[in-house]
Amino acid sequence: MAGKGGAGKTTFCATAARLLGRAGRRVVAIDGDTNPNLHAAVGLAAPAGEFASLPVDLVSRRLDGPALKVPAAEVLDRYGVRGPDGVVVMRMGAAGHADEGCLCSAHAVVSALLADLGAEPGLVTVLDLEASPEHLSRGTARHADVLALMAEPYYRSLEAVRLQARLAAETSIGRVAVVANKCRRPAEADAIAEFCQRHGLELAGVIGWSDAALDADAASVPVLDYPGAEPMAEAVAAAVVRLLDLDDPLPVPRPAAEAGARA
Ligand SMILES: Nc1ncnc2c1ncn2[C@@H]1O[C@H](COP(=O)(O)OP(=O)(O)OP(=O)(O)O)[C@@H](O)[C@H]1O
Ligand SMILES: [Mg+2]
Repeated sequence: MAGKGGAGKTTFCATAARLLGRAGRRVVAIDGDTNPNLHAAVGLAAPAGEFASLPVDLVSRRLDGPALKVPAAEVLDRYGVRGPDGVVVMRMGAAGHADEGCLCSAHAVVSALLADLGAEPGLVTVLDLEASPEHLSRGTARHADVLALMAEPYYRSLEAVRLQARLAAETSIGRVAVVANKCRRPAEADAIAEFCQRHGLELAGVIGWSDAALDADAASVPVLDYPGAEPMAEAVAAAVVRLLDLDDPLPVPRPAAEAGARA
């Protein structure tokens, strides 16, 4: 999942991962943002510093691209943190100190991991990328089956989608699809649909503006656990069904009573 800053990538990834987990899938969610916050969006409450990130020396460089030096299952065991609905969350390596230099190896680890996890039968990997299109020049998601681009209904967001879609077309990623988010009026969804048509892009889903999603974020509660955010979760579920070509709809549960009490 990629797109402009603040478009709703992390909220979508966390919600999608948990919906898939709750539906019985094995799900790995990778935080590919060097300013990480996917753990919290999934519902893992520990402070950011307490989650180990993927070490950059997990890969060796080969002519055909980076490759993991250890089996993916071992990486999952060592660095994955199991969250709600069985979602295993991992964090890309990030700068620990100022002036450390570039993050090439951290991106290479994610790229190699995505390749190996893709070979695991029945496993779904959700990768939350950062807003910069740098992941495309680095090939971080080169092994993705589908690149979803989150679009908000305003010009600069759509320009970011257009740029990333153009770069993605030069990669081996098989499919690029747009997900519209934060649409307050039908005209906004129509404008994104028209943009997609004009640029030959698939529109995989439309998510309306959700005050509840915003409130959930302010309360540090995942969308799926926040009473009133069900319409948002329903829209995410519908987009995931399209993106993954699932045969059946993903059920959206009602938030647990304790979350209701907290809210
Ligand atoms: N449909 C929506 N309606 C209203 N607010 C939303 C919606 N989707 C996401 N948000 C809010 O938008 C803000 C940014 O969301 P999020 O962190 O998921 O974006 P992001 O694209 O991952 O951002 P970044 O580029 O910083 O990683 C959050 O406060 C989130 O609650
Ligand atoms: Mg994010």
